[in-house]
Amino acid sequence: MTESTNGRALIRQASAADARALAEVHVLSWQAAYRGLLADSYLAGLASDLERRVAFLDQAIRSGGRDIRVAELDGAVVGWSSFGRSRDEDALAGTGELYSLYLAPQAWSRGIGRDLWQCSRQHLHAAGFLRVTLWALDGNQRALRFYRAAGFRPERQGSRVFEEGGTAFPVTRYQLRLA
Ligand SMILES: CC(C)(COP(=O)(O)OP(=O)(O)OC[C@H]1O[C@@H](n2cnc3c(N)ncnc32)[C@H](O)[C@@H]1OP(=O)(O)O)[C@@H](O)C(=O)NCCC(=O)NCCS
Repeated sequence: MTESTNGRALIRQASAADARALAEVHVLSWQAAYRGLLADSYLAGLASDLERRVAFLDQAIRSGGRDIRVAELDGAVVGWSSFGRSRDEDALAGTGELYSLYLAPQAWSRGIGRDLWQCSRQHLHAAGFLRVTLWALDGNQRALRFYRAAGFRPERQGSRVFEEGGTAFPVTRYQLRLA
């Protein structure tokens, strides 16, 4: 189902056929955005993890467990977002979460991230969520500038360090009121 098209990108719901393209965008986006923030060896290793991501996304799309929107430009998937109920144990009732927002580097700074976010925001609002949170890697200046411009603010005491496979991810939770 097409949700919006504005001359920049077409925003639509993900289908299972998109799983591989979504995983590829995810990896390319991380490798470009997190260069200098995470170890080069970790970022290079993401490519060998591609099939696991494809399988995860395929299952997520088929199960309908989370909302996923895709940005398509000239027939190619260039970005995606996913969102739903907050996964955080300490979340208040009525808290939604933007789980992911990733664009392939060649699609950055063309307003496509904003379109994906606007679509995600509308759906979260329509679903009755009062606020939305997201976790962002500290130092990811492009994303932090983007979220700040969208109205997100860091939460007081919202900083954590997640650990995965020996890599530390210093992150901060940001919040925006929808109501
Ligand atoms: C962060 C991210 C999602 C933002 O998406 P984006 O498409 O680059 O953002 P937008 O183009 O909508 O807005 C960014 C800039 O483009 C400008 N812009 C907006 N519409 C535009 C248009 N039609 N043409 C040109 N520029 C435009 C905005 O004013 C903004 O300017 P600024 O950042 O220089 O102040 C994207 O860069 C990305 O995927 N980054 C890597 C992954 C990542 O870090 N994700 C977040 C994880 S928490």
